[in-house]
Amino acid sequence: MLDLFADEAPWLEPLADGAVILRRFASADARLLIAQIEAVAALSPFRQMVTPGGYTMSVAMTNCGEVGWTTNTHGYLYSPIDPLTSQHWPAIPTVFRQLSDAASKAAGYPDFNPDACLINRYAPGAKLSLHQDKDELNLQQPIVSVSLGLPAVFQFGGLKRNDPLKRVMLEHGDVVVWGGPSRLFYHGILPLKPGHHPATDEFRYNLTFRHTR
Ligand code: SIN
Ligand code: FE2
Repeated sequence: MLDLFADEAPWLEPLADGAVILRRFASADARLLIAQIEAVAALSPFRQMVTPGGYTMSVAMTNCGEVGWTTNTHGYLYSPIDPLTSQHWPAIPTVFRQLSDAASKAAGYPDFNPDACLINRYAPGAKLSLHQDKDELNLQQPIVSVSLGLPAVFQFGGLKRNDPLKRVMLEHGDVVVWGGPSRLFYHGILPLKPGHHPATDEFRYNLTFRHTR
């Protein structure tokens, strides 16, 4: 399909204090990124994790990096071993790391050095309820979040769960970076609307890069 916007230059949209959306920042690398998601998932497959409260998450997840985000009956933890395969998680692919480096720099966080990348896969109806990313021990480092495939509504609030929410549509190639004063801001994804994207068919993927230690 002819994509009239494929070469569109990225632009920057402020989101909150310490948080920006780098629109289309990952567009040029999208095909490589998706191929590497598939390579990671061939080793550590997507799975729907069960929360400590016994709820099966609608988003399917896997990880790459030195550690990966998982759940068990006690809580949430970063583990070097994939509990599904009993192997180490796959390494962070070079194209992932290059994108995360470039995006964190563009957002004003030049020293970001992620050791984990959570990969989320949203099918129609899948959502991520409002939460804080607070399982990382080092909160000086930002979160870098890459959206691929179908669009989704991202909610971004404040330090309190009931702070007012901004709602922004995240599209294929968009990268959100939040850190500093907004590092612990509540955020979530509304249920994915069904659709077909030329790069990912019925899915939305999201990569979140984190420095956990
Ligand atoms: C997350 O909060 O971990 C992911 C957000 C997203 O899917 O955009
Ligand atoms: Fe999150």
